[in-house]
Amino acid sequence: MGIYNGYQCSICNAIFQPDENIYVCPHDGGNLDVLLDVNEIRKSDSKQRILNSTEASIWRYLPLLPIGEPGGQGTPLRVVGWTPVFTTKRLQAELEIERLWIKDESRNPTASFKDRASAVVVARAREIGAEFVVTASTGNAGAALAGMAAAVGQKAIIFAPRTAPQAKIAQLLVYGARVILVNGSYDQAFDLSVKASEEYGWYCRNTGYNPFTAEGKKTAAFEIWEQVLISKKELKKNLCVFVSVGDGNIISGLHKGFKDLKALGWLATMPRIFGVQSKGSAAISNAFIAGTEDIEPVHSETLADSISVDLPRDGVRALRAARETGGAYILVTDNEILGAIRGLGKSGIFAEPAGAAAYAGVVNARKEGIIGSDDPVLALVTGSGLKDIRSAMQAVAKAPIIEPNLKALKKIIQ
Ligand SMILES: Cc1ncc(COP(=O)(O)O)c(C=O)c1O
Repeated sequence: MGIYNGYQCSICNAIFQPDENIYVCPHDGGNLDVLLDVNEIRKSDSKQRILNSTEASIWRYLPLLPIGEPGGQGTPLRVVGWTPVFTTKRLQAELEIERLWIKDESRNPTASFKDRASAVVVARAREIGAEFVVTASTGNAGAALAGMAAAVGQKAIIFAPRTAPQAKIAQLLVYGARVILVNGSYDQAFDLSVKASEEYGWYCRNTGYNPFTAEGKKTAAFEIWEQVLISKKELKKNLCVFVSVGDGNIISGLHKGFKDLKALGWLATMPRIFGVQSKGSAAISNAFIAGTEDIEPVHSETLADSISVDLPRDGVRALRAARETGGAYILVTDNEILGAIRGLGKSGIFAEPAGAAAYAGVVNARKEGIIGSDDPVLALVTGSGLKDIRSAMQAVAKAPIIEPNLKALKKIIQ
């Protein structure tokens, strides 16, 4: 376990003790940051232990996480994270970028980035003896919670909009969670799940609400540090990290991870963090452009269901992730997201719309001159294309159907 001193409100800076089971600041509803005891960690041999670790998962970073040994040996809970980083010459050439990496989060056990958060929350739930863990989800957070909970026999309850893609709902059911489909939006499912957790005393995993989710997500920053920043020391400019944004908790988690490394003195230069939102769900981007921290809800509409959010629950920290690192918010259309699904697919990476959005953001940032050819770039593909086949099929032309003979084949192979 990493040594931690409690929680700090991201709005009013109030401090809360580690043994308090709270979610957001009781004074102003601000998201809470977990405070690592950097002085104690610095004095230990944690850095060498991490760099020499043979654990190919997020658990190599236990010295920097606010939980103890999670258990679950031999189960999917043990193999979350340590996802591969690919370079693709094809995409580099297409975008005229000298260095481009894709970090493929679809390799996680339930096929999305959300496993990182759910694994840490499930470990926490077991530590505090929670009987039930509940979450609202557009699909992936729920699938991740259901999968990680199933791996260790933890009971899970998921609220998802009834319109969530079928593959995601199938995952929830197959993992054996109690699934409640809400006849409403993700935001309505979120509010209901919070009320239900208060009513029944369930432990709530909600994204942008439970402080442990960002702690799980920060492990991706630690991996980028090891896989790119340490091993490619020759980078001449700051790494530009692109990630898609809905509630804003992945981007906040990444920022937290880099800030932890910086505070420990293990990271020399902060990467620039770029949030990518759909034009149809752009509440955080709107505030970024307006130069404010007041986030006005929108009526979200985008085919990228995982980032379709009216009121982002981690908006302020998500804004700061870009503002404080010299990044930006980039908007993409649904058509551009479909183009990105095709582009990534041709390089062997199959992304769901929200997963491809980050890459669509790189394309636009390059077109608009926001990044140059010599800026090193890493885009996170946060979820697998198998999660949403309907959207994948919209990205491509239909395959021809022919009679089973050569004559018919010759007609179409001209
Ligand atoms: C595949 C995928 N990408 C991106 C996101 C956005 O994450 P956040 O809501 O933390 O901004 C989600 C959230 O569900 C997701 O499932």
